[in-house]
Amino acid sequence: MKKLLSVLLVILSLNMAACADNTSEQINSDIKQDISTSTENIVVSLSSVEESSGEIVNYDAGKNNYTKYTEYTALQASPRDLVKGNNDKVLVAYFSRSGNTAITDDIDAISSASLLIRENGDTVGTCESIAEWIAEETGGDLFLIQTEYTYPVDYDQLVEVGEGQDIDGYHPSLCSHLENIEQYDTVYLVYPIWHYTVSVPTCSFLDEYDLSGKTIYAFAANEGSRFADSIERIAEAEPEATVLEGISVNQRQLYDTESTVRNFVKEHMK
Ligand SMILES: Cc1cc2nc3c(=O)[nH]c(=O)nc-3n(C[C@H](O)[C@H](O)[C@H](O)COP(=O)(O)O)c2cc1C
Repeated sequence: MKKLLSVLLVILSLNMAACADNTSEQINSDIKQDISTSTENIVVSLSSVEESSGEIVNYDAGKNNYTKYTEYTALQASPRDLVKGNNDKVLVAYFSRSGNTAITDDIDAISSASLLIRENGDTVGTCESIAEWIAEETGGDLFLIQTEYTYPVDYDQLVEVGEGQDIDGYHPSLCSHLENIEQYDTVYLVYPIWHYTVSVPTCSFLDEYDLSGKTIYAFAANEGSRFADSIERIAEAEPEATVLEGISVNQRQLYDTESTVRNFVKEHMK
């Protein structure tokens, strides 16, 4: 951070020196205007970086290029620990916007179209809620699929990146990894539908693990596309697994669906 500040100060002073040499008053005032605008931008971007804990991504970093679809600050994510349950045969793996964006404490509902606010003020994604209900019912381990770099907090920008990556067939690298996939015989996979199919980070999860011989229950959060083609896509990625429909949950009816999700899981645990 100190290095960044010094570089910015040097750039600022070079620009100011350039102004001093300029004889035209009009040009001078234009340049001053530019400098004051860019100074404001610098202050804004520094404060937003300080609110988050990660490193700024090199935007030209090739495979990690999330920002080619929209302009935002992608941060290196810190992986969350697996939440251990008391049933070591069941894994509840989920991808959610929540946990994959650099959300700060003061996020508001404006930029959080698919995030819900809990009574205690915490934000929670649709898939996160569903995964927590399933973990409560099964006692399974709860695992957040986390990408190496954060997605935009702003919903419209998130859509641009998520859809862009799907069109490009880009499966982002993950920063969270399971040590022992062999121990599980049942996997509840909870994911949002992105661009009428499985969200690309969920595809990265399916690329990484061989789920042969396991039963996968698919739970798709969506805004109307239901499962789209996700069951077929999961079965293609895991041809030796048994892939079954769980519940598709429209995010607008999330809480109305809670008992349906819990009952489905209870029924299939018998
Ligand atoms: C990149 C992106 C693309 C989406 N595409 C679709 C879609 O094709 N069909 C649909 O029904 N919902 C779509 N949605 C809505 C999400 O599936 C929905 O908001 C989901 O509840 C998000 O779950 P989360 O809050 O756990 O991330 C999309 C959302 C995003 C961010």
